[in-house]
Amino acid sequence: MDNPKASKPWGGRFTESTDAFVERFTASVSFDQRLALHDIRGSLAHAEMLVRAGVLSDQEFGSICAGLAEIREEIEAGRFPWSVALEDVHMNIEARLTERIGIAGKKLHTGRSRNDQVATDIRLWLRAEIDNIDAELTRLQSALIALAEREAATIMPGFTHLQTAQPVTFGHHMLAWNEMLERDHGRLRDCRVRLNSCPLGAAALAGTSYPIDRELTAELLGFDGPARNSLDAVADRDFAIEFCAAAALVMTHLSRFSEELVLWTSAQFGFVNLPDRFCTGSSIMPQKKNPDVPELVRGKSGRVTGHLMGLLMLMKSQPLAYNKDNQEDKEPLFDTVDTLRDCLHAFADMMPALSVNAAVTREAARRGFATATDLADYLVRRGLPFRDAHEVVGKAVAHGVATGTDLADMPLETLRGFSRLITDDVFAVLTLEGSVSARDHIGGTAPARVLAAAQAARELLAARA
Ligand code: ARG
Repeated sequence: MDNPKASKPWGGRFTESTDAFVERFTASVSFDQRLALHDIRGSLAHAEMLVRAGVLSDQEFGSICAGLAEIREEIEAGRFPWSVALEDVHMNIEARLTERIGIAGKKLHTGRSRNDQVATDIRLWLRAEIDNIDAELTRLQSALIALAEREAATIMPGFTHLQTAQPVTFGHHMLAWNEMLERDHGRLRDCRVRLNSCPLGAAALAGTSYPIDRELTAELLGFDGPARNSLDAVADRDFAIEFCAAAALVMTHLSRFSEELVLWTSAQFGFVNLPDRFCTGSSIMPQKKNPDVPELVRGKSGRVTGHLMGLLMLMKSQPLAYNKDNQEDKEPLFDTVDTLRDCLHAFADMMPALSVNAAVTREAARRGFATATDLADYLVRRGLPFRDAHEVVGKAVAHGVATGTDLADMPLETLRGFSRLITDDVFAVLTLEGSVSARDHIGGTAPARVLAAAQAARELLAARA
């Protein structure tokens, strides 16, 4: 990787060479080479602007384009001779260009600094990655919507405090996760909008005395426009923090969802099955089938939140404008992108393959007195104040617990022992199907509502493209 003779592009004022350890300590090329293709794209736009501004000749521009095209090929083929002595991706590429095309290569950096260059590169890179992440997010959401449609009428217990609360439909539960992911999508889009302004032209911090055209470079690179303030353009990393905040929230959602899947796949719940291809076994316990994918996603949520904290701490004491501290933005940001994309990918592949044990989920709802609230509501409709109805049903539940009987299985006379307002039409509200179907309003769990909500969610997804 190393070329010991490479002299520093900034070496003019220096009288001794860099300490060997310091050279390695300050270098970022081992990780920022990931930005290389965006760096080349930024350089091409900058060079095109310089030629239109009359700073570069057509001939110089031609050889810069050809040289950068060759370098791009070298990088893509894994043949590029990365050098730690050349510190970072920017100086590596520039030095290679000069090696290949001579003087014109040395002119590329006119009116530019690595400070606006790196700020541009990360934005270009992150913008593309947000689009990749959004594609995985969309894939996961459409899997959840399809699952919601498939299981729109499947009864399961809804929980509060992880205690059986009221019956819900499995589809309704899936659409709850979809809502969270829909907001996550919105946050990622917002972040993309705010990061999409072009730092090029800010140069080191104050701008440049060349007759540059910042509108042009911004347009060539697909930005909405040039960043308005040169100091801010090179110093700001809030786009990276904002992205990590959005990512941490997606991961928090996936982590909660994972926790449910871990519980639900256990023998104790038995609500769902994950196909073997998403699980692994134990080296000692032959019976084990472990839900590794959700467990790992739950675990990985920690590091993404950690990266968010790391970036906030990185920025909190930096005076304007650029500081070398900013070189530390990349590894957490890169890892956040990789982790989030992979977790969404795993979930998007896994969810369509999930099967629901409808008999088990139904039985769990039945056993947990999930329709107790329905009985109280029934008594309220017959004129009893809600608090009194609550008390009456509480007594009926206590009797059910003591005798091992579900409310729906008690004889009418037993139920009438708790309140004379109860008549034989009570059984319609005590069934699980009656309970979910009664919640027939916007945002409710009734199967018909779930199907309508799934359709609406599908339309939102379709409007994205
Ligand atoms: N490798 C540096 C970074 O990632 C590039 C900018 C360096 N600028 C400078 N003046 N040292 O932040």
